[in-house]
Parts: sequence; structure tokens; C-alpha cells
Amino acid sequence: MAYKQLQQRGMPLPPVTVSTLRGMKADGEPIACLTAYDASFAAIVDAAGTDMVLVGDSLGMVIQGHDTTVPVTVADIIYHCRVVARGLRRAFLMADMPFMSYTTPVQALENAVRMMQEGGAMMVKLEGGLGQLRIVEHLAQHDIPVCAHIGLKPQSVHKLGGFRVQGREQAQALRMIEEASALERAGADVILLECVPSELGQAVRDAVGVPVIGIGAGPGVDGQILVLYDMLGITQGRLPRFVRNFMQGADSLASACEAYVQAVKEGSYPAPEHCFS
Ligand code: KIV
Repeated sequence: MAYKQLQQRGMPLPPVTVSTLRGMKADGEPIACLTAYDASFAAIVDAAGTDMVLVGDSLGMVIQGHDTTVPVTVADIIYHCRVVARGLRRAFLMADMPFMSYTTPVQALENAVRMMQEGGAMMVKLEGGLGQLRIVEHLAQHDIPVCAHIGLKPQSVHKLGGFRVQGREQAQALRMIEEASALERAGADVILLECVPSELGQAVRDAVGVPVIGIGAGPGVDGQILVLYDMLGITQGRLPRFVRNFMQGADSLASACEAYVQAVKEGSYPAPEHCFS
């Protein structure tokens, strides 16, 4: 396989790397992220200027029609990662580690390696806090870029009893800030923060040196991510408060994705109506 960075020399914007993301945080440039699950959408999202693309286990819900992300397998993620990778030119590709695919350091490493070697992922994301420090440390020791997903962890939906805003109580909020710092010390390169009050989003962002990408975490984080089908108005049923339908007022899928990237970059998304207090 040719080295993508070399293939893409001469492109107007070089491919996004972990250092690009770190630099964007340092420069205060918001990081625009979206999910994608196939090559055609990946190409649209990439051309729109999205910095990071996630092959999320949300595919269990929006592609496979399950009620939760729990049934998604490593093979599912690798398949979708491989097809998404073919559509990308500039964006950084992150793959979700499915439910129970990272219960021990050895298992996590084995599955992360498959996602990178077979799927073409450049970073893996796992849901976890203090209980996953050993796993993050082990992956980082093997130079696997890691994103730690905290706040609302959809894989824990049956334990949580539903998809709910997290960190509203002070003790829980403080624990989340500690978790983010501990995960950074363990070697996490990115923190993804889901469904927390905006004030906590900002506090987590200020507590760590690595980029914090939010989904329902307010405007005070380093970047935003949305599930592609949610922001295109494809997803059926009731959507979380933080979702904005970017197809409204857009004349194509491409212009909706461009409007999203622009709104993230200029700070007009998320607006107060998309935030939790
Ligand atoms: O699976 C996914 O799409 C995610 C996003 C909600 C961030 O984890």
C-alpha cells in the first residue's frame, strides 16, 4: 500500500494527523468531525472539509436498525472502516471499538491492530473511564492512537437505564474531569465527551492538553462530532437535543455537510438550543 501522505503531496490541504489535531487545539481552530459508514458518504464528508471521520458503532442503530450499539461486532467495524477509508483523502479516520472488544489489554490490542491493519483506521475509540486506564496505557505503549469516550457511554445503556445527560451532579462532574486527566496521562490522544452540561464540557477541555471533541457537550470544547444520518435528517424517531438538521436550507448532501463544517468552524453550532445545563 502506498503511503497516503506521499500520494497526497500537492493536495491543497495535507491529510490530517494526530499532530494536526493537537495543533488545531493549540491554535483554537475548532475540529469538525462526522461519522461515515460507506465510501460514497465518506467522499462527500471529506470534500466538505471534515477533519476527522468516525466509523462509529452508531452503525448498529442507523445502518443495521438495532435499538442500541451493543450488537455491533469487530468484523462490522472493520468492514465499514475499509469502505470508508476508500472514500477519504484528507480526513483522519477513527474506528470505534465495539462492546466487549476491549475487556483486557491483550484483547484490546489484538482488535485495535485488526482495525488498523484490515480496516485502515488511524485511531481507535473506546468507551471508558478509570476502569479502562490499563487498556489505554497498553494501546499507547504500542503506539496505537487512542480516543477515550467519556460522559454518556452508549455501550453502557443497559447499565445506565437509558441515554441520559451525564455529570449534572457536582461529584459526578468532578469525577469526569479527573477521568479525562487520568486518561490523558495513560496516553489517550483525544477525549470524546458525550451529553454533558456545557459548563462541564468547557471544564474538561481546560483540564487536558489533548483535543476534546464534544457531542452534546456545548461550545466550549475543541471540536464537535455528530452522527451523519442525524444531521442529514435521515434518522427516524426522536433525536437528541444537540442534533441540528443541516439539510434544512441546503440543496444537496454536500452543501449540508459544508454548512456543518462551516458552523463548527465559526462557532455557530452548537447554539444554546443544542446544549445542556
Ligand atoms: O458511534 C458513534 O457514532 C459515536 C458518536 C456518538 C460519537 O460514538
